[in-house]
Amino acid sequence: MAATSLSPGSTDRSVDALIIGAGFSGLYQLHALRDRLGLRAEVLEAAEGVGGTWYWNRYPGARCDSESHSYCFTFSEDLARGWEWTERYPQQPEVMRYLNYVADRLDLKRDIRFGTRVTGARYDAAANRWQVTTERGERYQATYLITAVGCLSTANVPKIPGFETFAGRWYHTGQWPHEGVDFRGKRVGQVGTGSTGIQAAPVIAETAAHLTVFQRTANYSVPARNVPLTPEFRRYVRESFPEIRATMQTTPNGHPFRIEDRSVFDVTPEERERIYEAAWEKGGLQFRATFRDLLLDKAANDTAADFLKAKIRAIVRDPKTAEILANIDHPYAAKRPPIDTNYFETFNRDNVTLVDVRADPIEAITPAGIATRSGAQYPLDIIVFATGFDAMTGPLLRLNIEGRDGLTLAEAWRAGPRNYLGLQVAGFPNLFTITGPGSPSVLCNMVVPIEQHVEWITDCIAHLRARGLSLIEPTPEAVDGWVRHVNDAADATLLPQVPHSWYLGANIPGKPRVFMPYAGGMTRYRRICDEVAAEGYRGFGMG
Ligand SMILES: Cc1cc2nc3c(=O)[nH]c(=O)nc-3n(C[C@H](O)[C@H](O)[C@H](O)COP(=O)(O)OP(=O)(O)OC[C@H]3O[C@@H](n4cnc5c(N)ncnc54)[C@H](O)[C@@H]3O)c2cc1C
Ligand SMILES: NC(=O)c1ccc[n+]([C@@H]2O[C@H](COP(=O)([O-])OP(=O)(O)OC[C@H]3O[C@@H](n4cnc5c(N)ncnc54)[C@H](OP(=O)(O)O)[C@@H]3O)[C@@H](O)[C@H]2O)c1
Repeated sequence: MAATSLSPGSTDRSVDALIIGAGFSGLYQLHALRDRLGLRAEVLEAAEGVGGTWYWNRYPGARCDSESHSYCFTFSEDLARGWEWTERYPQQPEVMRYLNYVADRLDLKRDIRFGTRVTGARYDAAANRWQVTTERGERYQATYLITAVGCLSTANVPKIPGFETFAGRWYHTGQWPHEGVDFRGKRVGQVGTGSTGIQAAPVIAETAAHLTVFQRTANYSVPARNVPLTPEFRRYVRESFPEIRATMQTTPNGHPFRIEDRSVFDVTPEERERIYEAAWEKGGLQFRATFRDLLLDKAANDTAADFLKAKIRAIVRDPKTAEILANIDHPYAAKRPPIDTNYFETFNRDNVTLVDVRADPIEAITPAGIATRSGAQYPLDIIVFATGFDAMTGPLLRLNIEGRDGLTLAEAWRAGPRNYLGLQVAGFPNLFTITGPGSPSVLCNMVVPIEQHVEWITDCIAHLRARGLSLIEPTPEAVDGWVRHVNDAADATLLPQVPHSWYLGANIPGKPRVFMPYAGGMTRYRRICDEVAAEGYRGFGMG
């Protein structure tokens, strides 16, 4: 059913539910509310198409680190059977094709307003409605407001002195031009060696005249070992859909493989080496699943860290470069672990240089390039910022949300995000945050937590409507308890011990240092959410 205008000639649109964002989250949420509950639901999306992350991140080498057969919706067997992946890890254009396939198959695009950036959302308590405004001045009203803005959709372009004086061109990987960038004959500087930088550098180096990689924190990486999918593997995926889905839904990280139930110290050093070697040869994130205690025990983690550092030294021919790359100061996988195709090998090319900006920090951008503290000058035609995102809270705070009694989300989260189950914030009735901070989100193969959140929110709204209730909001006590639990779950792991992790907000100057995702695992999290619902939405107030 189409949305209605409030009054003739008015630009206000009134719907039951407004969803912000048209990536995996927003697409499924629209389908669930519109086609399962029969609500009038619309999506507002800043981009000109569906895709979210995959619409924006078109940089060279952009590719999944989830394996393709697990990076897709599982809520509909019919939808799953209508799609076949071509590679072990899909490249950005293939994920875009997949999400367009989903949107077309479910006829979603007619209810998505593209090119529509939300700039404000205010809760009107008298009407129990959310008033939403967009950059272009349109106004919407809705009973339920659901953010599907992603955890990684706000590009972080560092504020480096002299930035505006640069005479060449610069790009952030998360806002990559659709027409692509021609690196031929160009001196390119790449700032950043996270998952993005590690994917981009080998591809940029293939065409650039010269690539200078500016590394602040050295990083681990395991080879992806991407390959085209064989007919046998495709048949396995077709025939084993229920088993694959069951595995994804019962593992802590939502991947289609299980974490081995053994400790690093259950095996001899020789056996451990053999296990790591086999995992290195197999490639991908499964390396992290070789032992159950890699993220729990520093001594256990050291064995993996030493193995991976030795690999870097073996691959990179110049010992000085190898040492800068292997000088990693944090446990393996305590920051999001990248996987790569020829990343360390790239530093053996004559046209690639590594600069250690931990030892010699970037001081300024000049008209000619990048200058470091020691006075070194790096002349550049193009700068690629692979500098990540204002993760998790960034996209939510940019919505300028104002809840009950004028309380803003920025104020409520001044010392870091506070919510219940990562799903709702006290003082913000009927606002739901898909993969919000305090939920497992970025610690998982993300389609799994996205599906779980969408289904929980949909069931919750169905519950309210079935009982004639008009709003839901967590109690402050439930929020306090959840924040404590999120902190405890993080503290039981090595994850919060990395001072420069974006999980902690440490990549954004001035951001509160709070471990944001829920580290207790997706299985446990799902169980808690199910119990809360089964107990009549324990911890929530409804009216
Ligand atoms: C390069 C890259 C690779 C990744 N690879 C993987 C992977 O292999 N496996 C994995 O599990 N995860 C991966 N991720 C994480 C990825 O973000 C999620 O898997 C998933 O795509 C998130 O979907 P989403 O719909 O929740 O959010 P997004 O895909 O981020 O979509 C959010 C949408 O909201 C829109 N939006 C935001 N703010 C506003 C606003 N104010 N107004 C209107 N619209 C707005 C954005 O334009 C965007 O389209 C990757 C992330 C990046 C950056
Ligand atoms: N599927 C995939 O393989 C894939 C690919 C890309 C992204 N992703 C997802 O997106 C997340 C973000 O990845 P990302 O690589 O875009 O961001 P990131 O992990 O935050 O990495 C950003 C890099 O830029 C550096 N940096 C930031 N500001 C800097 C500055 N002012 N000066 C010098 N260096 C600076 C960081 O150094 P410090 O470490 O010192 O801060 C880091 O090396 C990943 O963790 C992952 O979840 C996944």
